[in-house]
Amino acid sequence: MKIISIANRKGGVGKTVISANLTYELSKMGYLVLMVDLDSQCDLSKIYVQGDYEGGSIFHLLRQQCSLDNACLEVGENLYLIPGSRDIVHFDFRGSEGILLHYLRNERLEEVDFVIIDHPPALSESALAGFVASDEVVVVSDAEAFSVANLGQLLDDLAHIQKVMNRDLHILGILVNKIDHRRKLTKVMVEEVYNSFGNSVFRASVGYDSAIPTAIRKGVPVRKLAWHSRVLGQIRHLTKEVIERLGMANGNG
Ligand SMILES: Nc1ncnc2c1ncn2[C@@H]1O[C@H](COP(=O)(O)OP(=O)(O)OP(=O)(O)O)[C@@H](O)[C@H]1O
Ligand SMILES: [Mg+2]
Repeated sequence: MKIISIANRKGGVGKTVISANLTYELSKMGYLVLMVDLDSQCDLSKIYVQGDYEGGSIFHLLRQQCSLDNACLEVGENLYLIPGSRDIVHFDFRGSEGILLHYLRNERLEEVDFVIIDHPPALSESALAGFVASDEVVVVSDAEAFSVANLGQLLDDLAHIQKVMNRDLHILGILVNKIDHRRKLTKVMVEEVYNSFGNSVFRASVGYDSAIPTAIRKGVPVRKLAWHSRVLGQIRHLTKEVIERLGMANGNG
C-alpha cells in the first residue's frame, strides 16, 4: 500500500480536483483506492457524496466514535472514501500526530493499493498528521507567480517535516495545474518551475479546462462527463506517471 498526500499550503491550486480524478483513474485501472478528506471544507467528499451525509467521517474516526469499517464509505468500484468533517478543526492532534498513520496502517486495509489524502490549504495540525501517515507527497501548484515563488519555501518546509516527523516521507513530484497556454505569463511561469525544480516536476501537467468546473458542478470525476475532454488525457498521463514513479505498474494502464 502507498499512502500519498496531495498537498500545498496554498489554496485553490487544484489539490481536490487532482485528488478526485487521480483516485478515480487509479480505481478504473483496477487498483483498490481509499480517499481521505482531511480538509474541513470537505470539497472532495462533496464530489463523491451527494446530499446530506450523516454517517462516519474522519472526525468520528479520530475521536473513536466510529469504527474504521464505518468510516470507509464505498463510493464506486474499487473506490472508498473516509469523508471529511468541518469539525476536524476541533480535533487536538498535539501529541497524537501519528493517529492517522495508526488507522491507515490497519490490517483491515491491507488489500488497499493506494490511499490518497486530500490536504487542507495550510500546514495545519491535521496536515502534519497527513504527512506523518504518508509515504509520498504530490505537490500541486498552479502556474501563478505567487504559487511558483512559494514552491521553494514549501519544499523546505516539507524537508523539515521529513527530518523531524517522518524520515520515510518522499516527494513524488510537483504537478503544475491550470496551465493556460493562451497566457504568455503562464508559459514563463511553467518554464520557471521546470528550470528551478527539474526532474521533481511531473512531465505530465494539467491545463486550464472548463471541463473541470463542469465536472465539479455535476459532482463527478471528469471521466464521467458525456464528452472526452482534453484534460482527461492529461489526468490519465499524470496517473501513469505516478504509477511509473512508484514502480507499481499492473499492466492495466
Ligand atoms: N485544471 C483546471 N482547469 C480549470 N479549473 C480548475 C482546474 N483545476 C482546478 N480548477 C478550479 O479551481 C478551483 C480550485 O480547485 P480545487 O478546489 O481543486 O483547489 P484546492 O487546492 O483543493 O483548493 P482548497 O485549497 O480550497 O482546498 C475550483 O473551482 C476548480 O474548479
Ligand atoms: Mg481542496
